[in-house]
Amino acid sequence: AAAEKDGFDWFMLKEIAEQPKAVADTLLGRLSDTGALVLDELRLTEQELRDIDKVFVVACGTAYHAGLIAKYAIEHWTRIPVEVELASEFRYRDPVLDRSTLVVVVSQSGETMDTLMALRHAREQKAKVLAICNANGSTIPRESDAVLYTHAGPEVAVASTKGFLTQVVACYLVGAFLAQVRGVKYADEVAAIVDELRALPEKVTEVLATMEPVRELARSLATEDTLLFLGRHVGYPVALEGALKLKELAYIHAEGFAAGELKHGSIALIDQGTPVVVIVPSPLSRESVHGKVVSNIQEVRARGARTIVIAEEGDEDVVPFADHLIRVPRTPTLLAPVVTTVPLQVLACEIAATRGLDVDQPRNLAKSVTVE
Ligand code: AGP
Repeated sequence: AAAEKDGFDWFMLKEIAEQPKAVADTLLGRLSDTGALVLDELRLTEQELRDIDKVFVVACGTAYHAGLIAKYAIEHWTRIPVEVELASEFRYRDPVLDRSTLVVVVSQSGETMDTLMALRHAREQKAKVLAICNANGSTIPRESDAVLYTHAGPEVAVASTKGFLTQVVACYLVGAFLAQVRGVKYADEVAAIVDELRALPEKVTEVLATMEPVRELARSLATEDTLLFLGRHVGYPVALEGALKLKELAYIHAEGFAAGELKHGSIALIDQGTPVVVIVPSPLSRESVHGKVVSNIQEVRARGARTIVIAEEGDEDVVPFADHLIRVPRTPTLLAPVVTTVPLQVLACEIAATRGLDVDQPRNLAKSVTVE
């Protein structure tokens, strides 16, 4: 078993380390030298892709967080409205679906029953279903109209890491491809997006090379009983993902919030010493939410929080308010989750290991949930 883990203590650590290659494999053969996307495997005709007037992304758990990120990218690049929904809720509320709806189901295992039932419901309503999946030939891609495999390689640890990062990248591919095919406003941005996607594996490698201080920090957090995660824009789903990782691995109460919602209630939770992880958007982000998140860090710190700040290299505005600062490489706003998620994976893994827990097989969980 030690050999299977390539010398790592846990499969999760091995899979975290494999992420640069996994992301590169998701992109492999799909980006042309001329800056176009090549997704012939989608098996939907250009006409079908042009007719789409609404997208649903449907998934569970971590894959659902990938879907939340997809919404920001797909809407921005294509101007098609996107809804993101938990598979276990989707079909029970009678969603409005027809021939011109694209339902993107996201599943690492391809066997998640809630997601499978949602996909069957969507197809019954004549929607087109595209699966983003890792496990080759599994049930979800077999029953879908089209599939985009993430090619992350087998994921053994119950907690999804490379599965998630590659789902996010596959969602970007779908969004950029829709923009390319439809030739809408942002189509000329596709070539730029392609270049930015190509740069991602190297950036993940850079993040991984700087994780020792994060491990040290994790060890100092192992006895906490609650951690809060704040983010905004695509940092919000990253906050949710960071919290989920911590819950499932370390059994510590954790919650992710949209940073702007703090003042509407959750800020009352902040007490002396409460650890708060903040995912800061790029200072260059066109959405200009950076300054607002910096204010959020100040607000929680003024109320006693111990702030753990994840910010881009060169972002000096956060320095005065960060008790702990984790740097990530400069990345375009929409793609930032591919780098900002990585320290949160390492944090959760190390906290769980420090607590003496089984990182790969957390209690009460199965790798793939095949019951509804
Ligand atoms: C991730 O860390 C979880 N163990 C879980 O939320 C998982 O993402 C979810 O069950 C969906 O699985 P799938 O991607 O195989 O469909």
